[in-house]
Amino acid sequence: MITLSVIKADVGSIGGHTKPSDEMLDAVKKRVRDAMASGLLIDGLVTHTGDDIAMIMSHTKGTGHHDIHVGLAWEAFLDATKVAQEQGNYGAGQDLLVDAPSGNVRGAGPAVAEIEFEPLPSYRQAESFTVFAADKCAPGAYNLPLYMTFCDPMHNGGLLLSPRLHEGFTLTIIDMECKDGDRRIKLNVPEQAWDVAALLRDMDRFAVEAIHSRAFPDEQIASISATRLHNIAGRYTGKDDPVALVRNQGIFPAPEELVEPYLIGHFVTGDTRGSHTMPLMPVAINTPVSGPYCLPIVSCLGFSMDKNGKFASRYNDFFADGSWDKARLNIQQKAIEIRRQGFFGVAMASQTEIAYTGLMDTMAKLDKDFVITA
Ligand code: 13P
Ligand code: MG
Ligand code: MG
Repeated sequence: MITLSVIKADVGSIGGHTKPSDEMLDAVKKRVRDAMASGLLIDGLVTHTGDDIAMIMSHTKGTGHHDIHVGLAWEAFLDATKVAQEQGNYGAGQDLLVDAPSGNVRGAGPAVAEIEFEPLPSYRQAESFTVFAADKCAPGAYNLPLYMTFCDPMHNGGLLLSPRLHEGFTLTIIDMECKDGDRRIKLNVPEQAWDVAALLRDMDRFAVEAIHSRAFPDEQIASISATRLHNIAGRYTGKDDPVALVRNQGIFPAPEELVEPYLIGHFVTGDTRGSHTMPLMPVAINTPVSGPYCLPIVSCLGFSMDKNGKFASRYNDFFADGSWDKARLNIQQKAIEIRRQGFFGVAMASQTEIAYTGLMDTMAKLDKDFVITA
């Protein structure tokens, strides 16, 4: 079995929440190189999307393994934090929310997407996968694109054309508001597609966490990091900035079917102070956040993995292509329009989101001065 692990964290950035420094990235790359030399990792790649550093790795340890999560990723982020502190970068160690995670880094701040699978079974001739990384938004940012690809033939003709896709999928959806534990539901599509839609429309509360094939129920297609930093810290400490790992081709949707939804530039929660609504902009890998009001961004890399788990030296950077330029201009126009209404109505995030901000102190103070008359 091979495990693909994507672990991402914001541990500091240059000139505000823009991008990590080269030296911070070098610190993480060194850890990945050492882990490959020691045999802990088969392969690995370090990238950034906005101010978040992503480690994309293959190994045989399984999901949630201490050596990968804590021994490697957490230590690498600590190294980069040290560099950020020395350089005076903003938000050094921002996403490392506990002193020392025990076990694995889930619930400790970093975003995690992982899938363990048997490479190249008889029904799968090649292993191809995509890694999405988004900055300045919450896990629900992937709800609409995943719905469009896995539930809607208007956007994914493969649901009609491929017999395997036509058998449908099981979506695991998590209730991110529940603090008593992980509250999840599994729904089968297409039969329950409207139930899926009813939940996913509330992207501040519900997010897709995993997707499995129904033709091959042991095959996990997608894993999405769906933890909320405000649930861990109890206050706003930065946005969750989710990653999604999605296997593709053959018995799974094709990458072209996965990226098409990003033409829309759908409105997501996040942006400046994590408390606004702006359209999601597809960008090349290693792009800083420089857009107005922390315009949220998403990158997408496509990889092929060989039978030994090697993948990192070759990739396709989907959103770097000029064919996305027209979409980017449209999305920029949507951003300009919503910014015109400042903090009013839907331009500022929902009550669920701003419940962790200073706005609540003002509301509490004002509440005492309200007068009820008959
Ligand atoms: P990040 O979560 O990307 O650090 O952004 C936080 C923020 O508040 C930007 O205004
Ligand atoms: Mg940041
Ligand atoms: Mg970020």
